[in-house]
Amino acid sequence: MSGSLARATKFGLIGKAFHSSYSYDHPSLKRTVFGIEFKNPVGLAAGFDKNAEMVDALSNLGFGFIEIGTVTPRPQPGNDKPRMFRLVADEALINRMGFNNQGVDVAASRLKVAKNKHGLVIGGNIGKNKVTPNQEAVSDYLYCLEALYPYVDYFVVNVSSPNTPGLRELQEKEPLMALLHTLKEKSKTFDKQKPILLKIAPDLTDSQLEDIVEIVKESETDGVIATNTTISRDGLRSEKHLKEENGGVSGRPLTSRSTEVIRFLHEKSAGAFPIIGVGGIHSAEDAVEKIKAGASLVQLYTGFIYQGPGLIKAICKGIVENGL
Ligand SMILES: Cc1cc2nc3c(=O)[nH]c(=O)nc-3n(C[C@H](O)[C@H](O)[C@H](O)COP(=O)(O)O)c2cc1C
Repeated sequence: MSGSLARATKFGLIGKAFHSSYSYDHPSLKRTVFGIEFKNPVGLAAGFDKNAEMVDALSNLGFGFIEIGTVTPRPQPGNDKPRMFRLVADEALINRMGFNNQGVDVAASRLKVAKNKHGLVIGGNIGKNKVTPNQEAVSDYLYCLEALYPYVDYFVVNVSSPNTPGLRELQEKEPLMALLHTLKEKSKTFDKQKPILLKIAPDLTDSQLEDIVEIVKESETDGVIATNTTISRDGLRSEKHLKEENGGVSGRPLTSRSTEVIRFLHEKSAGAFPIIGVGGIHSAEDAVEKIKAGASLVQLYTGFIYQGPGLIKAICKGIVENGL
């Protein structure tokens, strides 16, 4: 899908046609979150455009923002194929891509020349290479932050992918505090400070989520993205061989857990920081629920694969109709 999308929109006319049929502009969709203006609150989640190859094409589909990455300092191939599985009976995907990407410098050079015709906000989702031990992870994140700094509007620190061995241990209190603090200090050395967000797993316990609230506040992290994919296989209806594939589950089975995490963080923090809600948004109602639970913005990936780009417009309309 992504290749043909990129090819089709190389031709300006097709891009224009896409833009007019998929976009939905309305003054009440505008948002200012962590100091950034969004033309609407519906974004593309990380993992779809890992290498920033499709920014021009994606700018015609009605998104208010897109997040590129996860990128790592050095290029890496990711896990062997097959590494993505469709669980159609569950409207879900299982993926164990493993941060396959061409390296942050390639992504940065693409963003430098991307046309981004429709004023999209661009996020940069950063991670560490598989071969980098956790004790040295900070330098990988720092490298990515610096390389992308001039070309993105906000950053996401991804410590929640289940597909890089040991990565989620960086969600523990001590290493997480050190990582976020170092990145924040680095961002203060640039002329313009850019927001840094933390992306978390849906599999954290309540007490781990309480720690997250404290860490985010203490480290002056600008917001949280909730959530990444889950390692849980609860409630799946697909055939045994499919649901037993290793990796993270996204899509419909994640809808209510990710909303629960958003509500928990929003309530425990008393709204102290903005939350981007992501996980199993397949309809306008799903997005509305996440916003009512405390999300300032939403993102999609699996719903976009199953429903197609019309979903973005439908969500925007639903948000306006609900007066949100
Ligand atoms: C194939 C695939 C690759 C993904 N790659 C990334 C990634 O590189 N970095 C990241 O932070 N999240 C990644 N995600 C997680 C999504 O950004 C999102 O958090 C998750 O899929 C839940 O949203 P959804 O139910 O709308 O898909 C990936 C998801 C899928 C399905």
